[in-house]
Amino acid sequence: MAKEMTFSIIKPNAVKKGVIGDIINHFETNGLQIAAAKLGFMSKDKCELFYAEHKERPFFGELVSFMTSGPVVMMVLAGEGAVLKNRELMGATDPKKANAGTIRAKHGDSMGENAVHGSDSPESAKREIAIFFDKHEIANM
Ligand code: RTP
Ligand code: MG
Repeated sequence: MAKEMTFSIIKPNAVKKGVIGDIINHFETNGLQIAAAKLGFMSKDKCELFYAEHKERPFFGELVSFMTSGPVVMMVLAGEGAVLKNRELMGATDPKKANAGTIRAKHGDSMGENAVHGSDSPESAKREIAIFFDKHEIANM
């Protein structure tokens, strides 16, 4: 499988709980390297752009308000098959349905506050990375 990049967010509930290190350790011990990272607040504008595909969904307002409620960690992850690997490491969207040992099973609190985001395809990854990072901020791993 080719080396690729994916976009990851450690969501406000996980930052608040102090599990940034545990989540990053999970990535690094499973073949994903951190090619870029920053901690900070997402602006409402960028958050709405980022989640544009969900604009018409009933949970959109709640999602944006949660994601801008506290600091997050935005990251570019790099590795073989990074998009799929990250989705596997995260587990299902609903933490109650996530396989044991996955990040969402360990640190997710609810469907909304599910600890992490991960791009769902290489195309989404490219779009999402471009919202939050300039090219020169990303290490060539
Ligand atoms: P993500 O994009 O965050 O990695 O998660 P995902 O692909 O597994 O889920 P997606 O369908 O893209 O939904 C994006 C985020 O919206 C929240 N959500 N809430 N209340 C609800 O019914 C509901 N459904 C989705 C979740 O936080 C999900 O991660
Ligand atoms: Mg998604």
